[in-house]
Amino acid sequence: MTSIDTIDDNLLCTEAVRDPYSYFARVRDLDPVYWNSRHRAWVLTRYSDVARELRSQALTAERITPFVPSVSRSSQSDELAATFKILEDWIVFRDPPEHTRLRRLVARAFTPSVVKASTPEITATIDQLVADLRGRDDLDLIHEFAYPLPAVVIAQMLGVPAEDRDLFKEWSDKITALVFGAYGQADRFESAARGMMELRDYLLGLIELYEQHPGDNLISVLLEHEGDDALSRDELVATCTLLLFGGHETTTNLIGNGMLALLSHGDQRDLLTQQPDLIGPAVEEMLRFDGPARTTVRLVRDEHDIEGHTLSPGERVFLINGAANRDPEAYPDPDRFDITRNPTNHLGFGVGIHYCLGAPLARLEGQLAIAALLQAFPRMELAVDHDALSWHGTMLSRGLVELPVKLHG
Ligand code: HEM
Repeated sequence: MTSIDTIDDNLLCTEAVRDPYSYFARVRDLDPVYWNSRHRAWVLTRYSDVARELRSQALTAERITPFVPSVSRSSQSDELAATFKILEDWIVFRDPPEHTRLRRLVARAFTPSVVKASTPEITATIDQLVADLRGRDDLDLIHEFAYPLPAVVIAQMLGVPAEDRDLFKEWSDKITALVFGAYGQADRFESAARGMMELRDYLLGLIELYEQHPGDNLISVLLEHEGDDALSRDELVATCTLLLFGGHETTTNLIGNGMLALLSHGDQRDLLTQQPDLIGPAVEEMLRFDGPARTTVRLVRDEHDIEGHTLSPGERVFLINGAANRDPEAYPDPDRFDITRNPTNHLGFGVGIHYCLGAPLARLEGQLAIAALLQAFPRMELAVDHDALSWHGTMLSRGLVELPVKLHG
């Protein structure tokens, strides 16, 4: 019998980056719960295991807190230590009871009415970006559309004045490098930390402004007190940086990967063109088929067994959302892209207490953006072979470096 040892154990090897679905399907077939000694992590690839462990209290999301004392002690840079303090307050890195309190306060910014109210602004931003593309032919859809859109949207929603939005995009890049790319690379952390400090100082100014003159924006919502309970100044800054980061690269990748799926499956694209009402289920299928969340990381808190394997406290666990979403036990014919499937239980936004808070916003943005692109450029096609596309080599996310297209529009 073939063993897991025959598979390259580098989870960022060329195949695992280019086609993680085939790579992790082989891993799942050979050993769905295995200890990867190169990455020093358990790798879980079955839908049932990933969904159960994401909900389990035997795992902890607190993967920053354990490093804070040692970073503060050993770091030459106050900026790095301060950055870790900010990350420590991100709700995605907290467990209950802190998580429960923070999530309740932050969720006020993502009620259906707040999200719905942003529709006209999102539509106007999309219309502007589409108008800028008109008359062009060959272009990179990531850099000219999918990348700028979510940055502008979240900056608008937070209440960042239009003239400061380029600065915001720069900071967002730096945080993305910090969170997605720099696991265990101290030098990259150091350089990214400077961007985080600039962003923190900027946000503090904005928070002060909206404290005195509340406006129609998320910072003003987050500043509101609920009885005695309110976000502290540090928690507020941390939350704004999380929303900026959480709202950017992930949504870029939803639009990029989603457009790629449509452009590579002509029948599904024709179906969506004929039945634009399918845009909701189509975006759900994009999140399942090739969603932005490749892996979620946890640490083991309480020892427990999964099928004869003992997971011990402190060990890292990689829950491979992308593999779970292509598990044949969960989805018949999982490698088929089918916009009528409507897979409402996919793990593209996670599951359990950390389920993506921005999901309603991401869905709205993805649906409006993809519908607008299809309508404006009905003859758009890929400008290179599918195999020639290059993907970011990162553990947590799945996204294209570029999406070269011909608009013919
Ligand atoms: C398609 C785009 C997006 C995807 C695929 C995505 C994916 C995810 C996933 C998988 C998680 C769970 C992480 C975990 O369990 O550790 C998460 C959490 C979160 N996301 Fe998103 N996200 C997207 C867009 C957004 C947007 C637009 C925002 C806000 C502007 C946002 C804010 C958050 C927040 C605040 C959390 C933490 C929730 C908690 O810990 O309770 N996300 N996201």
